[in-house]
Amino acid sequence: MKKYVVVLAAGKGTRMKSKLYKVLHKVCGKTMVEHVVDAASGVNPEEIITVVGTGAEDVEKVLAGKSKFAFQEKQLGTGHAVLTAKDLLANKEGATLVVTGDTPLFTTATFENLFAYHNEKGNAATVLTAEAPNPFGYGRIIRDDQGNVLRIVEQKDGKPEELKVKEINTGVFCFDNQKLFEALAHVGNDNAQGEYYLTDVLEILRNEGQRVGAYKMPDFSESLGVNDRIALAQATKIMQKRINEAHMRDGVSFIDPDTAYIDSDVKIGNDTVIEGNVVIKGHTEIGSDCYITNGSRIIDSKIGNNVTITSSTIEESEMADNSDIGPNSHLRPKAMIGKGSHIGNFVEIKKAEIGENTKVGHLTYVGDATLGKDINIGCGTIFSNYDGVKKFHTNVGDHAFIGAGATLIAPINVADHAFIAADSTITKDVGKFDMAIARGRQTNKPDYWHKLPLSKDKEWQ
Ligand code: UD1
Ligand code: CA
Repeated sequence: MKKYVVVLAAGKGTRMKSKLYKVLHKVCGKTMVEHVVDAASGVNPEEIITVVGTGAEDVEKVLAGKSKFAFQEKQLGTGHAVLTAKDLLANKEGATLVVTGDTPLFTTATFENLFAYHNEKGNAATVLTAEAPNPFGYGRIIRDDQGNVLRIVEQKDGKPEELKVKEINTGVFCFDNQKLFEALAHVGNDNAQGEYYLTDVLEILRNEGQRVGAYKMPDFSESLGVNDRIALAQATKIMQKRINEAHMRDGVSFIDPDTAYIDSDVKIGNDTVIEGNVVIKGHTEIGSDCYITNGSRIIDSKIGNNVTITSSTIEESEMADNSDIGPNSHLRPKAMIGKGSHIGNFVEIKKAEIGENTKVGHLTYVGDATLGKDINIGCGTIFSNYDGVKKFHTNVGDHAFIGAGATLIAPINVADHAFIAADSTITKDVGKFDMAIARGRQTNKPDYWHKLPLSKDKEWQ
C-alpha cells in the first residue's frame, strides 16, 4: 500500500503571541514542523505535502527538499487545509497520514503502528487517540455503548457530558486517500468556530457506512499539541528527556540529565561525561571520552576525543583530540584548537588556528592568527588585530615562546623558535631563533624613600 503524508502548518498560532509562525517555534533546536516531517518521513511515504499559509516562506525554507507544499490562503480550518492538497493527492491510491504541524513529539514508530492498525482493520479512516490527564482544548472521541467511534467533538462545541471524556483526538489520522477527499467535500462550517473541521470527516464517512476506527496510543505525552508557550516548554522538557536517554543508551554519562540541554541533532561519543547545566546546541559533534563541566555552552562546534571543557563557551569552533579549555574561556567563531593544546582560563580566541601542543594558559586574547605547534603563550598576551578600520593577521611559528604581557601588533610574523620578552610591544617581525625585547628600561632611584615628605615622622626612618 502506498503511503502519503499531509502536514498542517498554515495556522498563524495566535495563542503563541509571536511574530513567528507557530510551527517554526523550536523544540530542542529544531522547528516543530521539522520534527513532524522528520518523524513522518521515517514511514517512507511516496510524498509529504505540507500545507502552508500566507507569508510562510520561512516554513518552506526549513522544509526545503523534505516536503512539497500546498497553499492555504485563508485559515478556514483543518478540513479546509487538507483540501488544499487535493490536486496533488485526490487521484492517488493509498493511505494518507494527516498530522498537525504543532505536535512535535510523535515518533515514526507511532505512525507505523497507526498505518498497520488502519490496514489490518480495513478502515476508511482511523484516528490516533490517547487518554489525556487534562483533555481541555483537545477534540474528544465520542463512542457508542459498544465502543465504536461515532465522531469527534471540539472543546468549543462539546456538551458538558461530552467534555468529560478524556480520550482525545491527537490530531493524527490515517485515511483511505480517495475517500478522504470525497468526504471533505461534504464538511460544513456550522460550529462554534465557523471552521471546516477535519474531524468531521469521521462522522461523514461513518454515516456513509464506511469503517471508521480509533487506534489508542499507550502514552499521551507523545501527542502533546503546542498551542501556547507553556505547552512549548512542556514539549521541550519531554524532548530533552528523550534525547538525553537516547545518548545514555549509547554510552554517554549525564551527572544531572534534568539540566543538560542537548539539541536534537547533536552527536556525542561514548564514555563522554556531561555534568549538569550544560547546553549543547545546533550541529555540534562531540567525540568519545570527553568531560564537559557545568556552565559550558557549545554551539555548532566539533569536539574531538578526550577533550575536557570546563565551564566555557564554544561557538562555531573546533577542538582536536586531547585538548582542553577553561574554566571561563570563550572560543568565538572559527577558533581551531590543535591536538593536545591547552587553553586555560579567561582566554578568548577568535578566527585563529592553534597548532598541536600549544599552550595559551591565562588571560589572553588571540584573534586573526595562525599559531604553530609547541608554542607557549604567556599570561595576559594580546594579539592586537584591529586598527579601528581593518583586521590584520599574526603568525607565530613552532616552538616560539611569548613572554607574559606581550602585545603583538598585527600584521606580524614571529618565526619558529623566536623568543619574545615579557611585556614587550611587538611591531616588527621576529626572526628564527631571535629574541625580541621592546619595553621601557627600568630605572632605580636610590634612597627615594627619605625624600618623601610623608616618611619624615615614621619610626622606621
Ligand atoms: C486540533 C483538532 C483537535 C485535536 C488537536 C490536537 C480540529 C478541528 N481540531 O485542534 O480535535 O485534539 O488539533 O492537537 O482539527 N491549521 C491549518 N489551517 C487551518 C487551521 C489549522 O493549516 O485553517 C493547522 C495549524 O497550523 C496547526 C494544525 O492545523 O498546525 C492544528 O490547528 P489548531 O488550530 O492548533 O487546532 P487545535 O485547536 O489544536
Ligand atoms: Ca493545536
